[in-house]
Amino acid sequence: MPQNPEAVSMSGITAVRGEAVTFTADPFLHPEEECVRHYDDALIVISDGKIMDVSEYADIAPKYPGLSVVDRYEDALIVPGFVDCHAHYVQTSIVGSYGDTLLAWLNRYTFPEETRFSSPEYASLIAGRFLDRILLRGTTTANLFATTYAPSVDAIFEAARERGMRVISGKVLQDRNVPEALRDPSAEESVELSEELLLKWHGRGRQLYAVIPRFAPTSTPRQLELAGELYRKYKDAGVYMHSHLDEAEKEIRWVAELYPDCASYTDVYRRYGLTGERAVFAHCCVVRPEEWQTLHDSGCGVAHCPSSNLFLGGGQFKFWEAKDPERPVLTGMGTDIGGGTNFSVFGELSEAYKVGMIKAQPLSIIRSLYLATLGGAETLRLSDRTGRIEKGYDADLAVLDFKCNDFVEWRMQQCSNVWERLFALQTLHPSRAVAATYAAGRKYTREAHK
Ligand code: GUN
Ligand code: ZN
Repeated sequence: MPQNPEAVSMSGITAVRGEAVTFTADPFLHPEEECVRHYDDALIVISDGKIMDVSEYADIAPKYPGLSVVDRYEDALIVPGFVDCHAHYVQTSIVGSYGDTLLAWLNRYTFPEETRFSSPEYASLIAGRFLDRILLRGTTTANLFATTYAPSVDAIFEAARERGMRVISGKVLQDRNVPEALRDPSAEESVELSEELLLKWHGRGRQLYAVIPRFAPTSTPRQLELAGELYRKYKDAGVYMHSHLDEAEKEIRWVAELYPDCASYTDVYRRYGLTGERAVFAHCCVVRPEEWQTLHDSGCGVAHCPSSNLFLGGGQFKFWEAKDPERPVLTGMGTDIGGGTNFSVFGELSEAYKVGMIKAQPLSIIRSLYLATLGGAETLRLSDRTGRIEKGYDADLAVLDFKCNDFVEWRMQQCSNVWERLFALQTLHPSRAVAATYAAGRKYTREAHK
């Protein structure tokens, strides 16, 4: 008889060990303590990019006697890899451009920069830079705008494939109110090209495709109609819809002028068949009650992008409205690079807390971490495979470092439990807060990517 009848063959198996937290349910809808699972000393066993086992080390280590590769983290916290529900990789080079209003900022900086992405070389240079930055900040899943041109789509999917990351992206549809170089030649051609790219990339490895009308003002009614048809054609195959909604008052007034027959901005998307499961809208700062109801009823997700909303000043996302238990809307975090000023989803949480405080709506650390992990995965309808540290899930992990610098190390000594430590680290969000990231089990560290 072997000594341990349950022992598992060790070839190709690795493991991560340390204090860990994960979620089992939505803490906006259930008592917070019932939604989290905390391990003092977890062993997360990884095989073929997936978590094959997770429990307290002492309980399961005997099952894995020959486990030779164990990354052990002390003074750290292992959490599910972060989910960025909205960003524009094509705006990496213009982060921090002075913007007096959203529409002026788009015209002055954003549109000219995006015209550079007709070049495959430039597109792949920026795609790689962007993904390396967010990976080292713990993001393992990202829902990203490309821009008009096919090379901008190919580049981000190629770069994600090389890195083992899950990226949702697609061609941006925009056939009016953008400079000519970015403008689609016709609604029909633009949606045909989008479908071609969808067939090329959707479901290839971890890559997923989104139909992306930039926002209602930059599409003709015909383009929205065709975009809606494309989304509905492939929705059941897991294709997404991604756009902007209700970001700023002036933008909302413009939409009302362009679409006078629609009852609201949300109603524009609804009328053209662009609401539903896997439809994700960024910002949602100035939302009427009936719009929240539509978003809830149709199963849409929304992305809270606090640093961008503060930076561009359009308005503020009210998470307490979005997550109203009477009609909750799936909500995750978005960095919204380059309107956003943060490549780190964890850093966005610090801004989200302050946005809540302005309205006396504190965001607890448990709810906050949920939004960055399982909440994001639910928003993107991926919560059966990422956003949790759970057997059978993709091995997408971020390791937060409680001694990433001298001050943080000292500050942590003043905390009495893991939630206090996590809240202080979130608030300080030092640039080296993440010691390592695992994307489908592939490890990335700051040291290896200097
Ligand atoms: N609305 C339409 N396009 C954009 C964009 O690129 N950034 C932001 N923040 N809002 C938009
Ligand atoms: Zn955006």
